[in-house]
Amino acid sequence: MSKTLLVTGGTGGIGTAVCQNMADKGYTILSTYYPAEEEQAKEWAEKQSFDVAIYSCDVSDYESCAAMKEAIAADGHNVDIIVNNAGITRDGMFHKMSPEKWKAVMATNLDSLFNVTHQFISGMIEREFGRVINIASINGQKGQAGQTNYSAAKAGAHGFSMALAQEVVRKGITVNTVSPGYIGTEMVMAIREDIRDMIIDQIPMKRLGQPEEIASLVGYLASDEAAFITGANFAANGGQHMH
Ligand code: CAA
Repeated sequence: MSKTLLVTGGTGGIGTAVCQNMADKGYTILSTYYPAEEEQAKEWAEKQSFDVAIYSCDVSDYESCAAMKEAIAADGHNVDIIVNNAGITRDGMFHKMSPEKWKAVMATNLDSLFNVTHQFISGMIEREFGRVINIASINGQKGQAGQTNYSAAKAGAHGFSMALAQEVVRKGITVNTVSPGYIGTEMVMAIREDIRDMIIDQIPMKRLGQPEEIASLVGYLASDEAAFITGANFAANGGQHMH
């Protein structure tokens, strides 16, 4: 039986590429979408060349994640692989950052790892197989002016990966972080053009990454071949940050 992949925010740039990569490899694909975006999510699912089941879920809300898990179970799925991909930016210089911007980013980008992963980890332990792949960011590794909230949440994501990796290391479950650099998605295209051009100029490869270049790494980490890799943080950033 094929393994089942759950991607949070699968409708976004990196999420869609992950769904496509894994569908091509024969996985059963499930994606969450933000409840207010049901129509767009349905349109997205219809447009794809692969089958994808979509589930309403606000990843920042534990009860919403619990309801999503129930809906997935009711459809007869066990989740073998989670890609915690849903994320937002609310950029602003720290002295001007509102508590709302801080909280929204922490809830969606960091609390979500607890809210979503907690629903499925017991099933993975029982079945003695699991992959948890957390999509973080170069900015969790190097920090970024204008992103104290996002950088803190994304650095926290890897702390989560390392701690959970240790807890489940003998259960056939690996937990890893992928830290993309600036990828050509809506999130990056929303940066003011002159600032974005400046950023691209700081990337040694002088270009944005492509969502597929992140998806192939995720696909590898989900595979049986990657069984010995856990608690690791993989950078894919065109040489913008090396450590
Ligand atoms: N380092 C140091 N100082 C900086 C700076 C930097 N990188 N960037 C800006 N500043 C300074 C400016 O020079 C300016 O100083 P003065 O007031 O003395 O002139 C001050 O900070 C304010 O800068 P802005 O004029 O840009 O302020 P703003 O309020 O108009 O905009 C901002 C703030 C929205 C954060 C804007 O700077 C911005 O968009 N920056 C880019 C942030 C970024 O990289 N976001 C990534 C989003 S994509 C993503 O997150 C995906 C991923 O994982 C990579």
